[in-house]
Amino acid sequence: MLEEIKKHQTEAVREGESVDSVQKLEEFRLKYLSRKGLLNELFEKLKTVDKQEKGVTGKALNELKKTLEGIYEKKKSEFESGKDSAENISDYTLPGRTGNLGSKHLITQALEEIEDIFARIGFVTYEGFEIEDEYHNFDALNTPDYHPSRDMQDTFYIKSKDKSKRLLLRTHTSPAQIRIMEQQKPPIRVIVPGKCYRNEAISSRSLSMFHQIEGLYVDKDVTFAELKGTLDYFAKEFFGKDLKTRLRPSFFPFTEPSAEMDVECYLCKGKGCRICKHSGWLEILGCGMVDPNVFANVGYDPEEYTGFAFGMGIERTLMIKHGIPDIRMFYENDIRFLKQF
Ligand code: PHE
Repeated sequence: MLEEIKKHQTEAVREGESVDSVQKLEEFRLKYLSRKGLLNELFEKLKTVDKQEKGVTGKALNELKKTLEGIYEKKKSEFESGKDSAENISDYTLPGRTGNLGSKHLITQALEEIEDIFARIGFVTYEGFEIEDEYHNFDALNTPDYHPSRDMQDTFYIKSKDKSKRLLLRTHTSPAQIRIMEQQKPPIRVIVPGKCYRNEAISSRSLSMFHQIEGLYVDKDVTFAELKGTLDYFAKEFFGKDLKTRLRPSFFPFTEPSAEMDVECYLCKGKGCRICKHSGWLEILGCGMVDPNVFANVGYDPEEYTGFAFGMGIERTLMIKHGIPDIRMFYENDIRFLKQF
């Protein structure tokens, strides 16, 4: 009988391996494990075996039982988890499924593109601080105590233990101008991309957080014409050759003279519409020649050096470039919006 058990053992293992459907598994169970199956038959037969052999034979039979049950349980759980059944066998010739790749946010792309445009004319990128002190954000930039932008209504101040230094979230990237000039001697040619914060009512045109890129160029004999040429070059590279720009006189405490650059309205192409408040133009940046007081604050001799600076709103610039009607769309992370860029 021992021989017989061994024979069944090899056979059953082979058969178990070829089970590839639920139906075949059931056949396997009926043949070996059911009440009228082979296993029970053998246990019946064990009763007739000689006393001396009963021990060894019984052991072998129990071994066979374990093997059969093992095979059955294993196959059963494979089918239940949907693996390896005939219906489920993978087609290895199918093309692979790739995961969805993310991409850079429109703002990041634009910052990188603008950095690149300025890198081609010798500007290096510098990163300032988002948390600034009142001195760098205002005083050193020739912005006196009574200036309205220092009002609590416009600026997010930060509670700090050090009473000698009032901290705030920078309201523009201009404090980076001071930080750089404190560290380096001219010639300086940098741009500074980054986040800025203002306590604004949220609307289609303004958010309390937005991005700017600051530019600063300081050397001997830097002129307003160079400022104009640099901004013209930028506008043509970024918006394309056809979009008209203009400089309009303006005021900033830290530049003299100051100007703002406007770009032709993307919607009406200069004819005048609701978006451009019927002027035909949209403002994208402030600029000017660095005020001598600012040079004095960082220890540069205003008689020796001149320079220009500009600060550009990124969201606003992108709204013009792509015709985006609402600034909040940048941060809603609607995949249908993001996918377009
Ligand atoms: N910091 C100014 C603003 O936020 C822009 C600016 C930068 C103007 C540099 C002149 C020079 O509006």
